[in-house]
Amino acid sequence: MEITGKTSVYCIIGYPVEHSFSPPMQNAAFRSTGIDAVYVPFQVKRGDLHTAINSFRALGIRGANVTVPHKSDVIPLLDEVDGEAAFIGAVNTIVNKDGHLIGYNTDGRGFMESLREAGIVVKGKKVLILGAGGASRAVSFYVARAGGRVFIHNRTKSRAISLGEDLMKENLSVEIVDSQGDVIDPEIVINTTSLGLSSNDPLPIPPHLLRPGQTICDLIYWDTPLIKEAKNKGLRTLNGLGMLLWQGVLAFKLWTGMEPPVDLMREKLIEMTEKV
Ligand code: ATR
Repeated sequence: MEITGKTSVYCIIGYPVEHSFSPPMQNAAFRSTGIDAVYVPFQVKRGDLHTAINSFRALGIRGANVTVPHKSDVIPLLDEVDGEAAFIGAVNTIVNKDGHLIGYNTDGRGFMESLREAGIVVKGKKVLILGAGGASRAVSFYVARAGGRVFIHNRTKSRAISLGEDLMKENLSVEIVDSQGDVIDPEIVINTTSLGLSSNDPLPIPPHLLRPGQTICDLIYWDTPLIKEAKNKGLRTLNGLGMLLWQGVLAFKLWTGMEPPVDLMREKLIEMTEKV
């Protein structure tokens, strides 16, 4: 693809950002749809976030993804924040509409799309969500809204209680549980904690609680020890690769108004995971 004087620029900002899979995925989508645009990574330190966001207006950067550690800090720097992103308290996608910066969160919806694609239905099911951080906020909100019976367990209970209260204000009901074993036979377990990022992390749930008939999901996009254990037990599993794909698909739609090539984007992601 040739970069010309008319090429639009999209980016991802984060720190670190060099391991992100989004640039190859989004560039493949731009190329295949014939949109004259590039997607580049920018490593932005915490203290530089304000300057970086202002530069979107100055440089006419058309859209961006936002990743760790900026997803919450970016909110007050934007002109407008979508209601769902405001509830989640995190923005992962920015659209620059003629200098007016609008923040969205496509992570939670991306997760729901990955469930839909895998044929996993949460409606009426007991769903145990492990963790009460930013990722859990997004997932709990959408799972509860889709009619799942949500139970949240977190190492720090006060954080789970506070998330539960916020969900209640949205007329969504969830239960906070003291231990992973307090929910009798959850049909779906979703790990939103960071346990599993490192291969020698303990499982976020004792293995004896993984039972036949369950579906085990992890937001981490490779097969974590939890997913491997669940597979060994013959359970249905879903890792976070689909969420990564669909959050990118939804971001692309917000930026361009076009349907991106989902299968091509998926292929790119799989290619990237094979390189790691
Ligand atoms: P994210 O935005 O990815 O959700 P986060 O807001 O830092 O990141 O949340 C991390 C989650 O992983 C939290 O639920 C955290 O539990 P605490 O609220 O008790 O900190 C959970 N977590 C991280 N390390 C953990 C560990 N060693 N054991 C259990 N939970 C852990």
